[in-house]
Amino acid sequence: DRLRHVDSMAQLPYGAGRISHLNAVILGESLESEENDLVFPSHEFSSQALVSSPEQYRKMYERSIEDPAGFWSEIASQFYWKEKWDLEVYSENIDVRKGSIKFEWFKGASTNISYNALDRNIEAGNGGKVAIYWEGNEPDDDGQLTYLELLERVCQLANYLKHVGVRKGDAVIIYLPMLMELPIAMLACARIGAVHSVVFAGFSSESLSQRIIDCKPKLVITCNAVKRGSKAIHLKDIVDSALRESAKNGVTVDLCLTVENKSAMKRGDTKWKQGRDIWWQDVVPHFPTKCDVEWVDAEDPLFLLYTSGSTGKPKGVLHTTGGYMVYTATTFKYAFDYKPSDIYWCTADCGWITGHSYITYGPLLNGATVVVFEGAPNYPDCGRCWDIVDKYKVTIFYTAPTLVRSLMREGDEYVTRHDRKSIRVLASVGEPINPSAWRWFYNVVGNSRCPISDTWWQTETGGLMITPLPGAWPQKPGSATFPFFGVQPVIVDEKGNEIEGECSGYLCIKKSWPGAFRTLYGDHERYQTTYFKPFAGYYFTGDGCSRDKDGYFWLTGRVDDVINVSGHRIGTVEVESALVSHPQCAEAAVVGIEHEIKGQGIYAFVTLVEGVPFSEEIRKSLILSVRNQIGAFAAPDKIHWAPALPKTRSGKIMRRILRKIASRQLDELGDTSTLADPSVVDQLIALADF
Ligand code: WT7
Repeated sequence: DRLRHVDSMAQLPYGAGRISHLNAVILGESLESEENDLVFPSHEFSSQALVSSPEQYRKMYERSIEDPAGFWSEIASQFYWKEKWDLEVYSENIDVRKGSIKFEWFKGASTNISYNALDRNIEAGNGGKVAIYWEGNEPDDDGQLTYLELLERVCQLANYLKHVGVRKGDAVIIYLPMLMELPIAMLACARIGAVHSVVFAGFSSESLSQRIIDCKPKLVITCNAVKRGSKAIHLKDIVDSALRESAKNGVTVDLCLTVENKSAMKRGDTKWKQGRDIWWQDVVPHFPTKCDVEWVDAEDPLFLLYTSGSTGKPKGVLHTTGGYMVYTATTFKYAFDYKPSDIYWCTADCGWITGHSYITYGPLLNGATVVVFEGAPNYPDCGRCWDIVDKYKVTIFYTAPTLVRSLMREGDEYVTRHDRKSIRVLASVGEPINPSAWRWFYNVVGNSRCPISDTWWQTETGGLMITPLPGAWPQKPGSATFPFFGVQPVIVDEKGNEIEGECSGYLCIKKSWPGAFRTLYGDHERYQTTYFKPFAGYYFTGDGCSRDKDGYFWLTGRVDDVINVSGHRIGTVEVESALVSHPQCAEAAVVGIEHEIKGQGIYAFVTLVEGVPFSEEIRKSLILSVRNQIGAFAAPDKIHWAPALPKTRSGKIMRRILRKIASRQLDELGDTSTLADPSVVDQLIALADF
């Protein structure tokens, strides 16, 4: 049966009806790869899939490129719009040479994403369906909400928010762990047209206050504490100090709505500021369970999400309502081959874009049942994920390569002692998945029968952009394969010329897509400079990419000053500023290094203030400084003392050399003669402890 399937795939006209005139993806004329480079979806899977062959994909893809307005408006019609969009479905200017960058989708329409995710599904008869299975940190701590119950909880909070004066367009900061209150808070904001900004609860108080100062929220929603594994983290204390810091910078927040997370900390133990702090449980449940929807324009902001860039200041990525709604729902449906009977679990945190698009919005817009997990994958032991899969009969499992690699290291036994038969689709996001992790995920976790959707995308793109459609074509371990409908990726060279066929270069996108971010909050200039000026006429992703002889895309990592640690994006400059804020640190240069589990690790070269000797104590306090300034996830893996840094005569740090030293490629240092003082390099090597 498998052979027959292979046969029929090989005959498929991969690139027939070439769409190269559109400069879009080219699936080569025929597959040139050896069969053993390819992993075919089973006939059983493909035959039930939403998109079951390359031909079907190509037809849909071509239509999406030739007639974006028709393609997307047809899909958009499945949602509820209070007011339909103007005749023109979208308009765009992606070329800085032609004026200000502007993407607009479904302009003139009004809708509400919370209404579409909840009320619309309930009206369709799914009110009794489970929307959220919540699994706490402790295995016996769990809960669930049907669509109807979720709507009621969302309405109560929405009414409370209105009661305290939150209005359409106001910002609300949400600093919560993965409690049900997190998606509830997002949906409640959306319901009244408030703009949520979720801050990952692993960020430090400095980072939180930076975000508060930037978006000036009406209130902060948090909880008193959270347990991660066996450790309790006092989130409320972090918020308290962030609010003190913000106040010093002229931004005061009068209200801090706090969830009492009883399993982590009692009320009585929580530090409290009378008049500002309010327990969620004391007020929200008293509000009515019905709340009228605020209809918003398709281009009204839905949320802000801060992400790292190449300067120390985080960027407030702004997503709007209509296009984001249509895009996250559609990508969710096709990339995971979603069926109404699925139980879907994404291990991300709602504090990152993955949790926005593929825990809260995309799945709920499809009326899916979603697992929300508060805990850690290694608590009580490394089999926790598969306990959860079996407990809820999870059918779609979406995670990050770093988790796959860390579980892989623990051995197969944690996996194989569980049933896992419910799983039918696996998926990955956050960084390139190395082929050996891919194969382990495929063979061991998925028993060699579940396709893997390796989804490439970014905070900025709103939804996934390059991904397998699991039943449609053979996969290659480590390749994100082909673009999603409506997405036109191109590879350009240094000069910004598009290059065709088998090649490598910089990944750009050629046309707007509905889920694209519209600006950086308060800084449209930075938006244009960062993303649209490097290669005029294109959106620049910041990623390197190659395309193989069959047209498959292979993402090769960031080409800018961004490091990807366990799928978390960290700017080297942010880490450097955190290090130099240490009173004894004079200068710092940070580079990424390969890391077995995390993908990339953080390697910091530091110069200390004159006369201060390097010591273990200093090393620890430098790391602590980064944890305090950014968060534990950004702590450097390595501190390398550098009495001096390699600089050019004009004073520019030569990172190329530092990268080579950090990755121990000492025979590849290249030309060091342009350095102001070439002996610095030998000194650094002598001080390395490898
Ligand atoms: C960067 C975006 C999108 C949600 C998580 C991260 C890298 C992401 C993949 C993938 C190779 C990937 C890119 C991208 N990345 N997914 N499947 N294969 N690289 O969102 O924090 O905005 O980071 O993550 O380098 O630019 P983010």
